[in-house]
Amino acid sequence: MDSRPGRILIPRDEIAARVTSLGEAIRRDYAGRAPILVGVLKGAVVFTADLIRAIALPVSLDFMSVSSYGSGTRSSGVVRLTADLSVSIEGRDVIIVEDVIDTGRTISYLRRNLATRHPRTLALCVLLDKVARREVEVPVDYAGFAIGDEFVVGYGLDHDGFHRGLRDIAVLERDPAR
Ligand code: IMP
Ligand code: MG
Repeated sequence: MDSRPGRILIPRDEIAARVTSLGEAIRRDYAGRAPILVGVLKGAVVFTADLIRAIALPVSLDFMSVSSYGSGTRSSGVVRLTADLSVSIEGRDVIIVEDVIDTGRTISYLRRNLATRHPRTLALCVLLDKVARREVEVPVDYAGFAIGDEFVVGYGLDHDGFHRGLRDIAVLERDPAR
Protein backbone atom coordinates (compact mmCIF):
# COMPACT_ATOMS: atom_id res chain seq x y z
CA MET A 1 0.00 0.00 0.00
CA ASP A 2 1.18 3.53 -0.77
CA SER A 3 -0.68 5.15 2.11
CA ARG A 4 -0.74 4.78 5.87
CA PRO A 5 -2.17 6.42 8.98
CA GLY A 6 -0.03 9.42 9.93
CA ARG A 7 -0.52 12.24 12.44
CA ILE A 8 -3.23 11.59 15.03
CA LEU A 9 -5.98 14.17 14.58
CA ILE A 10 -8.34 13.05 17.36
CA PRO A 11 -7.04 10.74 20.08
CA ARG A 12 -9.24 7.99 21.51
CA ASP A 13 -9.91 9.73 24.84
CA GLU A 14 -11.23 12.83 23.08
CA ILE A 15 -13.47 10.66 20.91
CA ALA A 16 -14.80 8.85 23.98
CA ALA A 17 -15.55 12.09 25.84
CA ARG A 18 -17.35 13.56 22.83
CA VAL A 19 -19.41 10.39 22.25
CA THR A 20 -20.47 10.50 25.92
CA SER A 21 -21.74 14.08 25.58
CA LEU A 22 -23.51 13.32 22.28
CA GLY A 23 -25.26 10.43 24.02
CA GLU A 24 -26.33 12.70 26.86
CA ALA A 25 -27.68 15.33 24.46
CA ILE A 26 -29.69 12.68 22.62
CA ARG A 27 -31.04 11.31 25.92
CA ARG A 28 -32.23 14.78 26.93
CA ASP A 29 -33.82 15.54 23.55
CA TYR A 30 -35.56 12.17 23.25
CA ALA A 31 -36.64 11.70 26.88
CA GLY A 32 -39.74 9.53 27.07
CA ARG A 33 -39.28 8.24 23.52
CA ALA A 34 -37.61 5.21 21.97
CA PRO A 35 -35.61 6.34 18.96
CA ILE A 36 -34.10 4.06 16.36
CA LEU A 37 -30.47 4.60 15.41
CA VAL A 38 -29.77 3.98 11.73
CA GLY A 39 -26.04 3.42 11.35
CA VAL A 40 -24.56 3.94 7.91
CA LEU A 41 -22.39 0.97 6.96
CA LYS A 42 -19.59 0.47 7.12
CA GLY A 43 -17.82 3.59 8.35
CA ALA A 44 -20.24 4.41 11.17
CA VAL A 45 -20.16 0.94 12.76
CA VAL A 46 -17.62 1.76 15.47
CA PHE A 47 -19.18 5.15 16.29
CA THR A 48 -22.68 3.61 16.38
CA ALA A 49 -21.56 0.85 18.72
CA ASP A 50 -20.15 3.38 21.18
CA LEU A 51 -23.01 5.86 20.79
CA ILE A 52 -25.77 3.36 21.55
CA ARG A 53 -24.07 2.58 24.87
CA ALA A 54 -23.91 6.31 25.67
CA ILE A 55 -27.68 6.88 25.30
CA ALA A 56 -29.55 5.96 28.49
CA LEU A 57 -32.89 5.33 26.73
CA PRO A 58 -34.60 2.33 25.14
CA VAL A 59 -32.94 2.68 21.74
CA SER A 60 -33.23 0.26 18.85
CA LEU A 61 -30.74 -0.22 16.07
CA ASP A 62 -30.67 -0.86 12.35
CA PHE A 63 -28.22 -0.32 9.50
CA MET A 64 -28.17 0.84 5.92
CA SER A 65 -25.40 0.68 3.41
CA VAL A 66 -24.64 3.23 0.75
CA SER A 67 -21.72 3.51 -1.53
CA SER A 68 -20.45 6.83 -2.87
CA TYR A 69 -16.73 6.37 -3.20
CA GLY A 70 -14.66 4.24 -5.52
CA SER A 71 -11.28 3.36 -4.09
CA GLY A 72 -10.15 7.00 -4.11
CA THR A 73 -10.41 9.69 -1.50
CA ARG A 74 -12.88 11.90 -3.35
CA SER A 75 -16.60 11.31 -3.62
CA SER A 76 -17.78 10.15 -7.03
CA GLY A 77 -20.97 12.12 -6.46
CA VAL A 78 -23.05 9.07 -7.30
CA VAL A 79 -24.77 7.50 -4.29
CA ARG A 80 -26.09 3.97 -4.42
CA LEU A 81 -28.15 2.08 -1.83
CA THR A 82 -26.39 -1.25 -1.33
CA ALA A 83 -28.28 -2.61 1.72
CA ASP A 84 -31.62 -1.49 3.11
CA LEU A 85 -33.11 -1.36 6.61
CA SER A 86 -34.60 -4.53 8.02
CA VAL A 87 -37.51 -2.81 9.81
CA SER A 88 -40.14 -0.19 9.04
CA ILE A 89 -39.43 3.31 10.36
CA GLU A 90 -42.96 4.60 9.82
CA GLY A 91 -43.98 6.71 12.83
CA ARG A 92 -40.58 6.24 14.49
CA ASP A 93 -38.08 8.77 15.79
CA VAL A 94 -35.12 8.09 13.52
CA ILE A 95 -31.56 9.22 14.10
CA ILE A 96 -29.16 8.63 11.21
CA VAL A 97 -25.66 7.93 12.51
CA GLU A 98 -22.88 8.70 10.03
CA ASP A 99 -19.10 8.76 10.28
CA VAL A 100 -18.29 11.86 8.24
CA ILE A 101 -19.99 14.46 6.08
CA ASP A 102 -17.85 15.70 3.24
CA THR A 103 -19.72 17.15 0.24
CA GLY A 104 -23.03 16.23 1.89
CA ARG A 105 -24.23 14.14 -1.07
CA THR A 106 -24.41 10.82 0.75
CA ILE A 107 -26.37 12.15 3.70
CA SER A 108 -28.65 14.28 1.58
CA TYR A 109 -29.54 11.17 -0.45
CA LEU A 110 -30.12 9.17 2.74
CA ARG A 111 -32.27 11.86 4.34
CA ARG A 112 -34.47 12.10 1.25
CA ASN A 113 -34.70 8.32 1.01
CA LEU A 114 -35.69 7.86 4.67
CA ALA A 115 -38.10 10.82 4.67
CA THR A 116 -40.27 9.07 2.05
CA ARG A 117 -40.93 6.30 4.61
CA HIS A 118 -42.79 8.68 6.94
CA PRO A 119 -40.78 8.58 10.16
CA ARG A 120 -42.23 10.69 12.98
CA THR A 121 -38.97 12.64 13.18
CA LEU A 122 -35.68 12.38 11.31
CA ALA A 123 -32.40 13.63 12.75
CA LEU A 124 -28.73 13.31 11.89
CA CYS A 125 -25.82 12.56 14.20
CA VAL A 126 -22.40 12.72 12.57
CA LEU A 127 -19.01 12.18 14.16
CA LEU A 128 -16.94 14.33 11.79
CA ASP A 129 -18.07 17.32 9.78
CA LYS A 130 -15.86 18.69 6.98
CA VAL A 131 -17.78 21.97 7.04
CA ALA A 132 -15.77 23.78 4.36
CA ARG A 133 -16.21 20.95 1.84
CA ARG A 134 -20.01 21.13 1.75
CA GLU A 135 -21.61 21.20 -1.71
CA VAL A 136 -25.12 20.18 -0.67
CA GLU A 137 -26.75 21.78 2.38
CA VAL A 138 -27.85 19.27 5.02
CA PRO A 139 -29.16 20.01 8.51
CA VAL A 140 -26.86 18.43 11.12
CA ASP A 141 -28.52 17.90 14.50
CA TYR A 142 -25.57 16.40 16.41
CA ALA A 143 -21.95 16.77 15.35
CA GLY A 144 -18.89 15.36 17.09
CA PHE A 145 -16.02 17.36 15.60
CA ALA A 146 -15.62 19.89 12.81
CA ILE A 147 -12.49 19.01 10.82
CA GLY A 148 -10.67 20.49 7.85
CA ASP A 149 -10.15 19.17 4.35
CA GLU A 150 -8.05 16.17 5.29
CA PHE A 151 -8.70 12.52 4.55
CA VAL A 152 -8.84 10.66 7.84
CA VAL A 153 -8.89 7.00 8.86
CA GLY A 154 -9.51 5.02 12.02
CA TYR A 155 -12.42 4.59 14.44
CA GLY A 156 -14.41 2.98 11.62
CA LEU A 157 -13.19 5.18 8.79
CA ASP A 158 -11.27 3.50 6.01
CA HIS A 159 -9.13 4.06 3.01
CA ASP A 160 -9.56 1.29 0.46
CA GLY A 161 -11.19 -0.84 3.16
CA PHE A 162 -8.31 -0.64 5.64
CA HIS A 163 -7.52 1.12 8.94
CA ARG A 164 -11.07 0.90 10.35
CA GLY A 165 -9.80 -0.79 13.51
CA LEU A 166 -7.50 2.02 14.65
CA ARG A 167 -8.61 3.42 18.00
CA ASP A 168 -7.61 7.01 17.16
CA ILE A 169 -8.56 9.11 14.16
CA ALA A 170 -5.47 9.79 12.04
CA VAL A 171 -4.71 11.72 8.88
CA LEU A 172 -3.98 9.49 5.90
CA GLU A 173 -0.39 9.90 4.81
CA ARG A 174 0.42 9.36 1.16
CA ASP A 175 3.74 8.65 -0.46
CA PRO A 176 4.69 11.38 -2.91
CA ALA A 177 4.24 10.21 -6.50
CA ARG A 178 7.41 8.59 -7.77
P1 IMP B 1 -20.02 12.89 0.97
O1 IMP B 1 -21.11 12.19 0.23
O2 IMP B 1 -19.10 13.64 0.03
O3 IMP B 1 -20.52 13.75 2.09
O4 IMP B 1 -19.09 11.78 1.55
C1 IMP B 1 -19.41 11.13 2.70
C2 IMP B 1 -18.86 9.72 2.68
O5 IMP B 1 -17.54 9.70 2.16
C3 IMP B 1 -18.78 9.18 4.07
O6 IMP B 1 -19.88 8.35 4.32
C4 IMP B 1 -17.47 8.41 4.09
O7 IMP B 1 -17.73 7.05 3.85
C5 IMP B 1 -16.66 8.95 2.96
N1 IMP B 1 -15.59 9.86 3.44
C6 IMP B 1 -15.54 11.22 3.31
N2 IMP B 1 -14.44 11.73 3.86
C7 IMP B 1 -13.76 10.68 4.37
C8 IMP B 1 -12.52 10.56 5.10
O8 IMP B 1 -11.81 11.54 5.39
N3 IMP B 1 -12.16 9.30 5.46
C9 IMP B 1 -12.90 8.20 5.17
N4 IMP B 1 -14.07 8.26 4.50
C10 IMP B 1 -14.50 9.49 4.10
MG1 MG C 1 -19.62 6.39 5.05
